[in-house]
Amino acid sequence: MPSEKSVYPPHPSIARSAHISSFAQYQEMYKRSIERPDEFWGEIAKQFYWETPIDPDNFFKYNFDITKGPIFTKWLDGARTNISYNVLDMNVKRGHGDKVAFYWEGNHPDDYSRLTYKKLLEEVCRCANVLKSKGVQKGDRVAVYMPMILEAVITLLACTRIGAVHSLVFAGFSADNFAERIMDCGARVLVTADGAWRGEKLLQLKVICDQAMVKCAQKGYNIESCIVVSHLGRVMSPMGTHYNANKTPMQEGRDIYWHEIIPEASPSCYPEWVEAEDPMFMLYTSGSTGKPKGVVHTTGGYLLYAATTFKYVFDYKPNDVYWCTADIGWITGHTYVVYGPLANAATSIVYEGTPFYPENDRFWAVIDKYKVNQFYTAPTAIRALMKFGEDLVKKHDLSTLRVLGSVGEPINPEAWLWYYKYVGHEKCSIVDTFWQTETGGHVLTPLPGATPMKPGAASFPFFGVQAVLLDEAGKEIKGEGEGYLVFPQPWPSLMRTLYNDHDRYETTYFTKFPGYYCTGDGAKRDADGYLWVTGRVDDMLNVSGHLMSTAEVESVLTEHPSISEAAVVAKSHPVKGECLYCFVTTNEHGEFDEKLQKELRQLVRERIAPFAMPDVIQNAPGLPKTRSGKIMRRILRKIAAGDRDIGDTSTLADPAVVQQLFATRPITA
Ligand code: WTA
Repeated sequence: MPSEKSVYPPHPSIARSAHISSFAQYQEMYKRSIERPDEFWGEIAKQFYWETPIDPDNFFKYNFDITKGPIFTKWLDGARTNISYNVLDMNVKRGHGDKVAFYWEGNHPDDYSRLTYKKLLEEVCRCANVLKSKGVQKGDRVAVYMPMILEAVITLLACTRIGAVHSLVFAGFSADNFAERIMDCGARVLVTADGAWRGEKLLQLKVICDQAMVKCAQKGYNIESCIVVSHLGRVMSPMGTHYNANKTPMQEGRDIYWHEIIPEASPSCYPEWVEAEDPMFMLYTSGSTGKPKGVVHTTGGYLLYAATTFKYVFDYKPNDVYWCTADIGWITGHTYVVYGPLANAATSIVYEGTPFYPENDRFWAVIDKYKVNQFYTAPTAIRALMKFGEDLVKKHDLSTLRVLGSVGEPINPEAWLWYYKYVGHEKCSIVDTFWQTETGGHVLTPLPGATPMKPGAASFPFFGVQAVLLDEAGKEIKGEGEGYLVFPQPWPSLMRTLYNDHDRYETTYFTKFPGYYCTGDGAKRDADGYLWVTGRVDDMLNVSGHLMSTAEVESVLTEHPSISEAAVVAKSHPVKGECLYCFVTTNEHGEFDEKLQKELRQLVRERIAPFAMPDVIQNAPGLPKTRSGKIMRRILRKIAAGDRDIGDTSTLADPAVVQQLFATRPITA
């Protein structure tokens, strides 16, 4: 196994031709990006179109110090542009009209299609015109609940074309969750699809949307228009048949099929020029208090940062084919399936299915089929695929690969090495990209031609990003050490606020350490200056790269009539990275048995999402608490891990509780 000291330099064949081909070049550019951000980003901004030019005096302003006034970040304030115009019209004008923007690969290998830049622009315009006809105006939010189909990309770009704010919700979230988010963002128009196949599983998306709309209506909130892509009827099911599209319920006057209105709309739509600091999209992420946070990104800075990180982190060259497996419903899908690639006139793949269908070599088959040069996925997928052995990888020609990306959670050295050896043939660079929904783009990452790699280290900050480690007292840790990962200055794509809740934005990210944006992650710096992200320092869990809060799951568990109290902690898991270990206390109506456990799992599934289902539920007649009644999660994590070395317990109100929990730990845990 590679140790912390193992270093893998970029392969000479990669370094030689890379945009940034040495560590010295990275350092030199990095220095400039920090010392002269206006110059650094100003040059990049010149590659894009600004309807109202950038005012050099207003290039970059911010306040991160809550003791000095409200927190804000502004880049290119006053300049006006349109991101859809920049990533579509500009590329067509530059002669990329016939270039493939997206290859679409369906769940079933017989289903595939493609879209050129010119055609994509036309489809986006049609969709934009329809959204306008449904009353959507600049600044309005549009709710999107879509599978991985090209209409999803089209919808996002159509929103930004007219200055509307898209609010996507990952199509794995439950109706309850979706309804809460629709009402929070105040969308009146919803775009979805009848459904999709993921492997052998049918997702009835419109049915979930209907349930969500009913829940909204119960609270007096109505979606006015729902546009539905009829997708199931045009693709092959795992049984080799076509789904009967008539089975999808449609409500007269509200619901309309995409194919009944979009093709008839005009294929041209003049873009709405928006301010660089106008909101571009919002995306919910879990908050440690349970209520999801609507992270708001704005236009100008996001465009610059998505474009720049994509180019350098993936070392994208004009004829490359790039593939990011992330779902469009997550930030990775927004920045590195849609905006980053398009801003570079890239050709990429949108893949609908899973890594395991029809066989466990699907990822490798797709890389081979499209001759992929950059492949970007999550550690959880790599760990799951490792289990099937390298022979499945070796069946396919992966020799076109140059860059392998990892995102969403720390990658363990074992998975890193397997990825490096069998997928990358010890020739590709691995970029372990650390970032967050909030950061908009990569903030810590190696660069393929420049950074000697250490397995598991996100390594160094990207251009414009200063990474600082603080100790509990807020003192900076210089050199080697471990602490809170914070940033003293914004880069262009840092989130600007939480939707309708700037106070929560300030308290969540800027109060613990005045003067810094606080990521909520811990990190350590080694003797060579490499940064290693160690994971969340708050009550958040990362299951298969999906972030959720313990509070969110606890509040669902205690909704069950038999449960009086619940505490949820993370336990490490060989494939998912982390899984949920739940301690529940039953009340006088409850008996802890198989039936109750099943009901609790089902409840979490319904209220949050299938990926949030607990792995272990333990009966806890008592929970370890301090004398003031605070649950000691640190001890619960030890019990979950089966680690009896629990340290100082002097603050415990009743130490016997801990012994009892160890004694009754389920054997399956
Ligand atoms: C974690 C996903 C270690 C981290 C883009 C962060 C990582 C959270 C990495 C954000 C990485 C993401 N190494 N940890 N390379 N990438 N994380 O908002 O805890 O879904 O705070 O954004 O994932 O998750 P989010």
